[in-house]
Amino acid sequence: MSDVRISGLHKTFGTVHVLKGIDLEIPAGEFTVLVGPSGCGKSTLLRTIAGLEEVGQGDISISGVNVNSLRPRDRNIAMVFQNYALYPYLSVFENIAFGLRARKMEDHEVRLRVNSAADMLGITGLLDRFPKQLSGGQRQRVAIGRAIVRKPQLFLFDEPLSNLDAQLRDEMRGEIKKLHQDLGITMVYVTHDQIEAMTLADRIVLMREGRIEQMGSPLNVYEQPATRFVAGFLGSPKINFISGELVDAGDRQAMRLSDGEIIPLPKRTQAWGQSIVLGIRPQHLGRSTDSKVKAGEVKLSRPIEIVQPTGSRTYVTIKIGGTQCIAETESMETGRPGETIDLSFDLQHAIFFDPTSGAAII
Ligand SMILES: Nc1ncnc2c1ncn2[C@@H]1O[C@H](COP(=O)(O)OP(=O)(O)OP(=O)(O)O)[C@@H](O)[C@H]1O
Ligand SMILES: [Mg+2]
Repeated sequence: MSDVRISGLHKTFGTVHVLKGIDLEIPAGEFTVLVGPSGCGKSTLLRTIAGLEEVGQGDISISGVNVNSLRPRDRNIAMVFQNYALYPYLSVFENIAFGLRARKMEDHEVRLRVNSAADMLGITGLLDRFPKQLSGGQRQRVAIGRAIVRKPQLFLFDEPLSNLDAQLRDEMRGEIKKLHQDLGITMVYVTHDQIEAMTLADRIVLMREGRIEQMGSPLNVYEQPATRFVAGFLGSPKINFISGELVDAGDRQAMRLSDGEIIPLPKRTQAWGQSIVLGIRPQHLGRSTDSKVKAGEVKLSRPIEIVQPTGSRTYVTIKIGGTQCIAETESMETGRPGETIDLSFDLQHAIFFDPTSGAAII
């Protein structure tokens, strides 16, 4: 098991500044997920850890050893990519064994390792087949097998599941998590899929335009986003953002929405200008069936615009402060478009943002 320390890492391609000062510690044995929108530098960061890209400025050390000038093959890292790059003319067995053969490992040890990896991945019955005789999920397992047999000190994955259909992706996601539990190896996993990030990670590192925007446990980042960008990236359906004006309502501050609704702020904030943005996740904006108002609760009644039942939950679209919002209810009996629905949310779940900087302020 190895830890990875990255400090002051910059990377440019020609005139494009891709990584703009990354400081990151990846603890040994943890599952770290790098997540962020397309082009934010996730693959570049992963490839730089692997040694496939040179460090522009800064340092990377693995298990306390600076690897800046170490060749990829000397870093004892295994990497699994989105396209599995299997050798078409080699059997599954030989594909998995390839790296070991290249290192002139003895045949009985090769057999031992390949068989054990195949067993772990449930592909023992496929060892004599060729890649073209496999499904996408099976090919991905072979690619993972090829990485496992090397017994690396560090496992890097770059969007390994994005070529698979939704069902297979769910299944493989579970398998990768189990693999991490069984092997206990440090893993760094790149994805732009926030569900993969939330479900797999011990720690999420959310990147934006070559910088780390926030990192922490999935729950911490989800529940306490530091910025509007983070809040909007994690969660499905997406968090609702509602703009309004900061006003004084007697002894406390409040927010006035464009439709006149007044929402008290749970705490006072310094003068942040006139505008403020309320973030409330759909699952916290529920249907209200109780006419009493509890402390810290905000009640709203709105005409229903769209109803989307999913079976277990129903998404109801309404307009709050001129913005289309989604409320999530457990009930199928939400009413029809045009009818009024009573909704409520607890101020405890509301997050307020500065519209200019995007920072969470309450
Ligand atoms: N070899 C290269 N030469 C020039 N620019 C590059 C090179 N590799 C990557 N880039 C640029 O660096 C930026 C980051 O690319 P990177 O592949 O790291 O993004 P990513 O976060 O992995 O995105 P995606 O989710 O689309 O895979 C992009 O703007 C990309 O065009
Ligand atoms: Mg990428």
